[in-house]
Amino acid sequence: MKIIMLGAPGAGKGTQAKKIAEKYQIPHISTGDIFRANIKDGTELGKKAKTYMDQGLLVPDELVCDLVVDRVKQDDCRNGYILDGFPRTIPQAESLDAALGQMGESLDFAINVDVPDEHIVNRMSGRRACVGCGATYHTVYAPTKKEGVCDVCGAELILRDDDKPETVQKRLSVYHDQTQPLIDYYRGKGILKDVDGTKDMDVVFQAITDILGA
Ligand code: AP5
Ligand code: MG
Ligand code: ZN
Repeated sequence: MKIIMLGAPGAGKGTQAKKIAEKYQIPHISTGDIFRANIKDGTELGKKAKTYMDQGLLVPDELVCDLVVDRVKQDDCRNGYILDGFPRTIPQAESLDAALGQMGESLDFAINVDVPDEHIVNRMSGRRACVGCGATYHTVYAPTKKEGVCDVCGAELILRDDDKPETVQKRLSVYHDQTQPLIDYYRGKGILKDVDGTKDMDVVFQAITDILGA
């Protein structure tokens, strides 16, 4: 099963993708997580990506497309995968389609997690990310057992650099300009599925599994 997640920043793509990956036993590929890991490791790619991410801008397509195309060709992707945060522009979607076409494959579902802008800033300001394992929490909606400490690995939790309110506003406007057109792109291909992302996490997950089946 090959799935992509669409949705505004903070819509819950990562939250749901992680649960889908566990249930269906397929890799969760998040371009945002890949860039953050590269930033943490101080790689050249990380240095380049950071200058864009900190401003709430998209990293240029040429730094993203090959990376994802190479990743989905790896062995663990034979039975499918879930892409979270890619594609984010029409050229990215076209390059993915072209690469899949060459392999005689195609996407099965594009899940659009729909959350209006007015919910987003609130979600982002409460989000906390683990510096150790990358697990994501929310101070109100998904709190840790002990404040400021990751339930999974015990490391410290931080607010992501790009979750400051002014950067979130920029990310939202970039989303509307560059990523939202993908909704119609995938609707046209007949694989778009909308879910109401304002509901509780478990309700959203149930709606997604109803779509994906068993
Ligand atoms: P990326 O990491 O993909 O960020 P994003 O799209 O802005 O999305 P987020 O990760 O912020 O939100 P999410 O939808 O995953 O929400 P989450 O589940 O965490 O990208 C970061 C940057 O990298 C980009 O800005 C860009 O610069 C660059 N980049 C990445 N991919 C790129 C690409 N393909 N091309 C170019 N540049 C790229 O949930 C948010 C919070 O809400 C959490 O605290 C969570 O606990 C909570 N929450 C989730 N669901 C619910 C619910 N149902 N109810 C209540 N709270 C909830
Ligand atoms: Mg995410
Ligand atoms: Zn952790």
